[in-house]
Amino acid sequence: MTSKPSASVSDITPGRGALRPARSWLRSDAPSLSLNGPWRFRLSPTASVARDFAAEGFDDHSWDSIPVPSHWVLQGDGAYGRPIYTNIQFPFPIDPPHVPDENPTGDYRRHFPLPSGWSQGSGVVLRFDGVESLFTVWVNGVEIGSASGSRLAHEFDVTGAVHPGDNVVAVRVHQWSAASYVEDQDQWWLPGIFRDVTLLLRPAGAIEDVWLRTGFDNGRGRLDPEVIAGPAAFPLTLRIPELGVEQVWNTAAEVKRLDIAGVEPWSAERPRLYDAAVSSAAEHITLRVGFRTVEIRGDQFLVNGRRVVFHGVNRHEAHPERGRVFDEAHARDDLARMKRFNVNAIRTSHYPPHPRLLDLADELGFWVVLECDLETHGFDTVGWTGNPSDDPAWREAYLDRVQRTVERDKNHPSIVIWSLGNEAGTGSNLAAMSAWVHARDAERPVHYEGDHTGDYTDIYSRMYASVAETEEIGAPGARSPLLDCTPAQSARQRAKPFLLCEYAHAMGNGPGALDRYEALVHTYPRLHGGFVWEWRDHGILATTPAGTPYYAYGGDFAEAVHDGNFVMDGMLLSDDAPTPSLHEYKAVVQPVRFAFDADTVAISNLRHSADTSDLRFRWRVEHDGNPVARGELKVPVVPAGGSERVQLPHIDVSPDAETWLTIDAVLTAATAWAPEGHVVASAQLDRSVRRPVPAVRTRKDWRPGDGTLTLGIAEFISGSLVRLAGRAVTGPRLELFRAPTDNDESPSDGVEGSDASTPGVANAELWRRAGLDRLTSRRLSVSHAADALCTVDRVSSANSATSVTVESVWSLEDGELELRVEIEPSRGWTAVWPRIGIRFDLPDGDAAVDGAEWFGLGPLESYPDSLRAARTSRFSSTIEDLTVDYGRPQESGHRSGLRRLTLTSGGTKVLRLDALPDAHGRRPGYTLSRHTPQQIAQARHAFELPEATTSHLIIDAAQHGLGSRACGPDVHPEFALRPQARTIRLRLTAG
Ligand code: GAL
Repeated sequence: MTSKPSASVSDITPGRGALRPARSWLRSDAPSLSLNGPWRFRLSPTASVARDFAAEGFDDHSWDSIPVPSHWVLQGDGAYGRPIYTNIQFPFPIDPPHVPDENPTGDYRRHFPLPSGWSQGSGVVLRFDGVESLFTVWVNGVEIGSASGSRLAHEFDVTGAVHPGDNVVAVRVHQWSAASYVEDQDQWWLPGIFRDVTLLLRPAGAIEDVWLRTGFDNGRGRLDPEVIAGPAAFPLTLRIPELGVEQVWNTAAEVKRLDIAGVEPWSAERPRLYDAAVSSAAEHITLRVGFRTVEIRGDQFLVNGRRVVFHGVNRHEAHPERGRVFDEAHARDDLARMKRFNVNAIRTSHYPPHPRLLDLADELGFWVVLECDLETHGFDTVGWTGNPSDDPAWREAYLDRVQRTVERDKNHPSIVIWSLGNEAGTGSNLAAMSAWVHARDAERPVHYEGDHTGDYTDIYSRMYASVAETEEIGAPGARSPLLDCTPAQSARQRAKPFLLCEYAHAMGNGPGALDRYEALVHTYPRLHGGFVWEWRDHGILATTPAGTPYYAYGGDFAEAVHDGNFVMDGMLLSDDAPTPSLHEYKAVVQPVRFAFDADTVAISNLRHSADTSDLRFRWRVEHDGNPVARGELKVPVVPAGGSERVQLPHIDVSPDAETWLTIDAVLTAATAWAPEGHVVASAQLDRSVRRPVPAVRTRKDWRPGDGTLTLGIAEFISGSLVRLAGRAVTGPRLELFRAPTDNDESPSDGVEGSDASTPGVANAELWRRAGLDRLTSRRLSVSHAADALCTVDRVSSANSATSVTVESVWSLEDGELELRVEIEPSRGWTAVWPRIGIRFDLPDGDAAVDGAEWFGLGPLESYPDSLRAARTSRFSSTIEDLTVDYGRPQESGHRSGLRRLTLTSGGTKVLRLDALPDAHGRRPGYTLSRHTPQQIAQARHAFELPEATTSHLIIDAAQHGLGSRACGPDVHPEFALRPQARTIRLRLTAG
């Protein structure tokens, strides 16, 4: 054994010794032995470690034990280093194909007994389903080979190296290698053997590979089999019992296409699968076959002849404790959750997932864009100089990656598009990958977003295009040149189907304007929807020194370079909790739509091919949120693409309460992903009679006063409110600040259509510069009238000449306490405002305000550009549940369209507020929280928030929209809150 540096970390070939061509990941009855479980493990700081560890007699007793599969940085409580999070940046010098000598290297060893009867006349294969990033394998001291391609399967022939009885397998894994340059995805760097290791017996007469290509046309299924097997495997039998198929092939030449009658098609909506088996005398392989035809016709992408609209998500493999280690139960729950939220498509960003995930996608029903393990984004930093994508030296590595991708997963009906990778610039190696895929699989289109000009891909794809730009792409008459395209290239791209492989960046609170994208899809058939970035946050479960658990993000592991919380950008929080954005998404993309007129509702079915026979239509009528009647609508079965108009039930309209009709389309029977009664789609109709808003009483008897008095339930000292309904209160004070969202913190792009106050500067920065987070006030006047108090304050901030005048009038009206606040900005304000609100602080005293009941929009938070999931009704919540625990604390909890709010303490009603609409009919929203916006803005994690002793109620006349600026468009001008005068009117009564 030598002690020269082990495997060539700078080698850009994809490894040596792995079996090629790659083949499908098949379910076989041939014996196999899982090598998952505890392995001996040693971590070295560099790649130059002696190789004698691989030898049979080597003593590894002093080593640790580590589970396989796992990532070593997530094991051993920091003993094996820590995860690193970067988006684009390389966490090592840009010196391709070299990596630093500081290269954590994990040595793994384990013994295994070769099962009896395995050695004679059979082959033995050792399969690794995922190792990050470069590894070398030895069996009984014999070097077998090495491989890179972290999220790809690699198989090695170890027939000659294993022997009866005890064997030793040793694996050396380097965290960094040349391959790291092409695996620069936006995610944690997580080294180790993180997917299964399996020993496979390959009997004589085994079937090497099977591909059952399928098609579907008018009730007839096409099966186009490809079998790779030696002569000894024949005769082979194909069976699909349910379809009466039993086909015997005596030689390879007899393997032929079959045409099968009476077949039901596979779709993401009705994922019909048939059990199939291909058997030789030696091996029995089972598959689940779905019949479907994928094609591009003109500028449309069709499955089984019908246009597909992707309501998709980008899915990474991420788990707070396991990282990218697959857990089937968790994955199934995750996919079932997607289905419940009307997600119908998955882009496997940015690498092939664990192969079982695709079985789940076939079974539960998703359109899948299967992406190759490839990203070289860090080269963007150096103007793409040296980008492997256009360097012939990397051609073989690129081809190896796409071959392993396609070959492993080619049997899955759910996969309808192959994607070459993500953000790898452009170049001939990508074109070569595409050519290979086209030659190997002529049916499925090739996608790669970076091919802006459409030189080698079949679909026009973009990420984060604004609504306006997306419309420019979809509209038939539009002519403006597309990104990076000449007019001719633009025309070529416009002739293809379009999809947004990423849009609606779901970082923190947001995104806004999902509904605008959705509307375009139903206007322009060339637009095929897209994939929200992204499904889940990638927070890693960690604990503070004081023992408080939290979800860590970039920078929490003292990384030299990192990208902070940019990895917390999912519609699901790290702990699987759906955020309000996921509810919004579900409502926006619901497959059934409702259009009301006087007495009828038109029910449209926007599904791909499924009719509505799986749905019932329940209705209910509420008066001020209280249910008064319910029933079921009789709706004929609506075919896909069809619409039926049906009579509404009789609605009993209340003279003195709001009357709302709600219709829910619910599942008639349980499915694999939801129980019976699960709501798929819903809509509301407002049937309220218009009721007059009490006029503002003008008073003529104002006189200067000292402001110390009692008005009904309110007590004032020197013009300031001190008690309400017997509870200590301070405020109301003008609140213009919100704890900036991740979108607020992103520099404005200043593009047309955005409300950029100052291009290149984040709105949050403008707010801080203007001092919105540190307002001070000066009382200008206090006056009294009969049963009334009026104060006028000038609110401004240090070193600022702009101000807001706030007039507060407290009065008794019809025996109730009314507060009317007039908010009047001075001239000179420029930036948008986050909110226009008034804040009451309610100290805990003997019993904290800890809950709310309200009639208005709910149940979840809503903002002007994210209102579709909200409905008008009565709701209640604890104060904690009003706020979403975003990965980084930020604005959360705003409930729009408030009519009535009751604050509670330990279940007892403390104070009731009725919100009157302003002169334009606009209603305020409210936020109830244990922390002020200023406190929230200071915290990087929830555990950094101070211990709360006060509850804070903010009544907002308006809030700024959310937008998607963290990666994408600003708040649309319609939802941008420019400085403006506003009125807030409340009636307050004791609980
Ligand atoms: C895209 C990229 C994703 C992710 C996203 C922002 O450019 O493809 O991987 O980084 O931006 O979260």
